Amino acid sequence: MEGSYILLLLLFGYASFQEHNVYRSTNRNQDYTTATHYLLNPIHNVVQSIRGANVTLPCIMRRRPRSYKVKWSKVNPEDPLENLIVISNGKYHKNYDQLRGRVRLRRSHRLDASLIITNVSLEDEGRYKCELVNGLDDQSLTLSLQLEGVVFPYQSKKGRYRYNYVEAHQACEEQDGRLATYSELYQAWTDGLDWCNAGWLLDGSVHYPVIVTREPCGGNLPPGIRSYGPKDKLKDRFDAFCFTSALKGNVYFVHGPMTFREASTACWARKAEIAKVGHLYAAWRFYGLDHCDGGWLSDGSVRFPITDPRERCGGLPDPGVRSFGFPNEEDRLYGVYCYANT
Ligand SMILES: *[C@@H]1O[C@H](CO)[C@@H](O)[C@H](O)[C@H]1NC(C)=O
Ligand SMILES: *[C@@H]1O[C@H](CO)[C@@H](O)[C@H](O)[C@H]1NC(C)=O
Repeated sequence: MEGSYILLLLLFGYASFQEHNVYRSTNRNQDYTTATHYLLNPIHNVVQSIRGANVTLPCIMRRRPRSYKVKWSKVNPEDPLENLIVISNGKYHKNYDQLRGRVRLRRSHRLDASLIITNVSLEDEGRYKCELVNGLDDQSLTLSLQLEGVVFPYQSKKGRYRYNYVEAHQACEEQDGRLATYSELYQAWTDGLDWCNAGWLLDGSVHYPVIVTREPCGGNLPPGIRSYGPKDKLKDRFDAFCFTSALKGNVYFVHGPMTFREASTACWARKAEIAKVGHLYAAWRFYGLDHCDGGWLSDGSVRFPITDPRERCGGLPDPGVRSFGFPNEEDRLYGVYCYANT
């Protein structure tokens, strides 16, 4: 009795499965609530991580098609080509160039097609697509990988508005970061970043974040992210907004007074290096580094990090990394911030 009942159910299920397959194959962009929905929708479409961590991008099947491949790719809105990462037919898999050596499929059970990225880097941020390819009825889901981090405005030693896009890109990399995205700048603005100089973002647009409206910063417009729109990446010149994520290591202050050259030597003597601007911002943001003395950094600037604002430390009411700009390198007035990668 019971056996034939189950058989009937199975037959019925099989029939409706077939029917949906036909339906689905001609309606690829319909919603996925039909019976042939193989991929589980993720609960969260955004996965948060930090630089250096291992992260899992979940992609779970509800059931396995008889034959299929899983294809992971990175989706870059500015690049129409598919950036394949891994393709697998359930038995063997092939790694493509992007993320070489740092990715694998998790396979913690038969329905698991999740991707693991080890030692996450700043460039890994973005959108990823998990695709189930079975010939008839390809399905996919996309997830965004976001890194927890901090945005810092960066200006050339030569003064305001000296970088074209390419130079801004390089300047951020030299300070242990990369150009910030618009959503990172937006997040920084909600966290209190108020900056009246326009800077390049990763997508080639130029913006600046304003909290306290004032005449030289867009006048009476309401607080927000001001836009200069897209600019010529080679000819137009601005500052940069850089982004950096967690710090693997330690930043500490060494008392001076010393010149810039003496500052470098002082760090080397401690088996450390003179800190980059990104190191100092990450230590301030993630480890609450608070120190009231100006110290040299690797780019020749002098700065100090304040998490607990007080009258005798610059007097500004909000936490932040304060700057003395780029003093004469022979001035013997400051200490140094060293970075030890331990
Ligand atoms: C990341 O995974 C690798 C092995 O795949 C492991 O050796 C390493 O310790 C992990 N790193 C972290 C930060 O968990
Ligand atoms: C992680 O990546 C960084 C570069 O992004 C590299 O310097 C470091 O050695 C890598 N760490 C491991 C454990 O592979």
